[in-house]
Amino acid sequence: MADIRADKSGTFAIGGDLEVTRLGFGAMRITGNGIWGEPADHDGAIATLKRLPELGVDFIDTADSYGPDISEWLIKEALHPYGDIKIATKGGLTRTGPNVWLPVGRPEYLRQQVHKSLRNLGVEQIALWQLHRIDTKVPADEQFGAIKEFLDEGLIAHAGLSEVSVDEIKAAQKVFPVSTVQNRYNLVDRTSEEVLDYCAQNNIGFIPWHPLAAGELANSGSLLDDIAKKHDAAPSQVALAWVLKRSPVMLPIPGTSKVKHLEENIAATNISLSDADFAALDEEGKRPSPPRPPDQTYQAPPDKSGGVFL
Ligand SMILES: NC(=O)c1ccc[n+]([C@@H]2O[C@H](COP(=O)([O-])OP(=O)(O)OC[C@H]3O[C@@H](n4cnc5c(N)ncnc54)[C@H](OP(=O)(O)O)[C@@H]3O)[C@@H](O)[C@H]2O)c1
Repeated sequence: MADIRADKSGTFAIGGDLEVTRLGFGAMRITGNGIWGEPADHDGAIATLKRLPELGVDFIDTADSYGPDISEWLIKEALHPYGDIKIATKGGLTRTGPNVWLPVGRPEYLRQQVHKSLRNLGVEQIALWQLHRIDTKVPADEQFGAIKEFLDEGLIAHAGLSEVSVDEIKAAQKVFPVSTVQNRYNLVDRTSEEVLDYCAQNNIGFIPWHPLAAGELANSGSLLDDIAKKHDAAPSQVALAWVLKRSPVMLPIPGTSKVKHLEENIAATNISLSDADFAALDEEGKRPSPPRPPDQTYQAPPDKSGGVFL
């Protein structure tokens, strides 16, 4: 097998001192269908997690709501006491069933979830904790104030936000140092370009979720094929090489439950895209695409009670 090393993607210091290898791992897919309950293949999920340090992956993204709890429990089962691995988790979304995600940003709830994640992961401090969504039913400053308290009390070392605008980042920065922003971003979903640029200007880590467009960019038949052929690579690998080249603050966290896909994704660090290939993909990726079928993984909550799409 060719040399597969995540560290070829370079490093980024989150909040100035939490150094991570840029190509990380998203641990949402190691749970059951609808990101609910135990995975169908428990041993496969554990094997995938155990392969991470062997490939040099030292940055894992998870959330209290993945399962819920299951993803954090599996990470602890497979990797505790973690060594060089830094675990980022999130709080602020409740779960009432498969594919249903409802924001709750009341400070006492966020505090409970921080304490639960500390216990679930078996750590004394969370390296990076991110507010999964700003709850529009609660004043944003109350949520930001709670995060400042978690930082001041040492429950968390760094804090970030997810699915936010530049104005929301600026409002949060008045209350606590924003170390990361996690927004949906990939070659064909560029709605967060402005947020990414703001992060780059302010040395905030930008964690693109759905870097493979939930698996869509792993399929052949897309704009990635020609360049993938040139590199004798899979389309998914070119998609990851493209996001990595897009910005030095980019920290992609492709998600998978399978060792084979994990190895393929990390091997994307072996691809060096030329500036011309990068620009050609950039242009193609920005073109409006025909309407896509709805994402089967995420459906609107059946009770229409203000849930969010992930
Ligand atoms: N902040 C947020 O609101 C938010 C929302 C969603 C996700 N996230 C985080 O972002 C991470 C990444 O997002 P994501 O997992 O939703 O989407 P993604 O990384 O774009 O794609 C994951 C999907 O692609 C498949 N896949 C992965 N590698 C593959 C490969 N080499 N070949 C073929 N298929 C492959 C996976 O299936 P297999 O399991 O079969 O490989 C999975 O279905 C998540 O794990 C989670 O940590 C955050």
